[in-house]
Amino acid sequence: MKIAMVGSGYVGLVSGACFADFGHDVVCIDKDQSKIDRLHQGIMPIYEPGLDALVENNVKAGRLSFTTDVAEGIRGAQAVFIAVGTPSRRGDGHADLSFVYAVAEEVGASLANDAVVVTKSTVPVGTGDEVERIIQASGTPHKVSVVSNPEFLREGAAIGDFKRPDRIVIGAEDDFGRDVMREVYRPLFLNESPILFVNRRSSELIKYAANAFLATKITFINEMADLCEKAGGNVQDVARGIGMDGRIGSKFLNAGPGYGGSCFPKDTLALLKTAEDYDSPVRIVEAVVKVNDSRKRAMGRKVIDALGGTKASRGKKVALLGLTFKPNTDDMRDSPSIDIAETLGNAGVSIAAYDPEGMEQARPLMPEVAMCDSPYAAIEGADAVVIVTEWDAFRALDLDRVKALAKAPLLVDLRNIYNPDDMRTAGFTYHSVGRPRAE
Ligand code: UDX
Repeated sequence: MKIAMVGSGYVGLVSGACFADFGHDVVCIDKDQSKIDRLHQGIMPIYEPGLDALVENNVKAGRLSFTTDVAEGIRGAQAVFIAVGTPSRRGDGHADLSFVYAVAEEVGASLANDAVVVTKSTVPVGTGDEVERIIQASGTPHKVSVVSNPEFLREGAAIGDFKRPDRIVIGAEDDFGRDVMREVYRPLFLNESPILFVNRRSSELIKYAANAFLATKITFINEMADLCEKAGGNVQDVARGIGMDGRIGSKFLNAGPGYGGSCFPKDTLALLKTAEDYDSPVRIVEAVVKVNDSRKRAMGRKVIDALGGTKASRGKKVALLGLTFKPNTDDMRDSPSIDIAETLGNAGVSIAAYDPEGMEQARPLMPEVAMCDSPYAAIEGADAVVIVTEWDAFRALDLDRVKALAKAPLLVDLRNIYNPDDMRTAGFTYHSVGRPRAE
């Protein structure tokens, strides 16, 4: 089966390469000539573990190709995916659908055969109707069915998530759409991945509801962590204790500095806008957005408190370990590190930082921060070491070396990757999230 993927960013490229790996004939299309040129040379536009090898193998096997030409790319494709960005619109937080609609127009104008047009981009409820209207308005003589098929890929684990999904959601309005999508995902049914056929609007809502629910889960445990700190509990034990209840589930209950990334912040805001449009408020999500926003700055203040308060902090130096919003990505979008660095900078604290992949992206976002070649270079002379992102490289720091290099043995672990008792034994004053302090 031939599949076209319009948009070769994070979602389009991962999905395209995985579909090719299933044996489909895939063309990834992007209007960015330099991106396509680099892909031809085997250079990935993003950092995602395993993606370069997957792309290389499938290009070699003749199943994956790249072009900037939409008409050429979609010729003969039974499924044309739209996987372009839907960023927050400046000013109002609505999802900006201009890229999606521009692709719909171009696809409508250049279709040379019957096709199912699939929205993979995260789009507000009702967008599929508009995509359908645009394609019909192009006057195409071909049969077209517009389907919604949201992605649930986590950065850093996207290939595994694609190949072994918890579920595949298809929002289709007719048999043509359903039949083609069944073919597209046939290799996954053989893996017994559950597939859920729903109507198009439900499918569009599922994506936002899923992300908002996960953001709520994280925010809930973060507030429990604050309560644990004040009341003398341990949030990891609380999370374990509630997570064993099958109705709650153990995942996404890791307390931390607040969620960031390209999805949760943008999608929760867009859901609030949709709720406003339909005059059907989702007050829980309103609270989640507010609590998470203020949490990121609160984490900066937590470091200041650990340093002895505002006065004592001025002129001190902090080492930030990890800048990306989570490990195994170079993505800095809405990363808590940005707010933490800003709060510390405003308090007159100087910052040295190290991140395995994100420093290039981070530099323009935090120009005052000195970027270092290794965690130890950042730690040298620091009054406090702060773990912001739980990269594996920070899980087994040479603690003696840290103590020898730092000015003071003070560690603020915003991801709870160390054990308080071990840190006490190692001679550190250790602050973490929602757990008793060790000193
Ligand atoms: C998310 C969804 O998981 C994915 O299904 C969707 O398609 C896109 O958005 P992603 O943004 O890549 O994926 O990262 P994810 O692993 O979900 O983490 C999001 C944020 O939540 C990160 O900042 C992470 O640090 C934070 N998080 C996650 C926590 O603080 N605690 C947790 O227990 C889990």
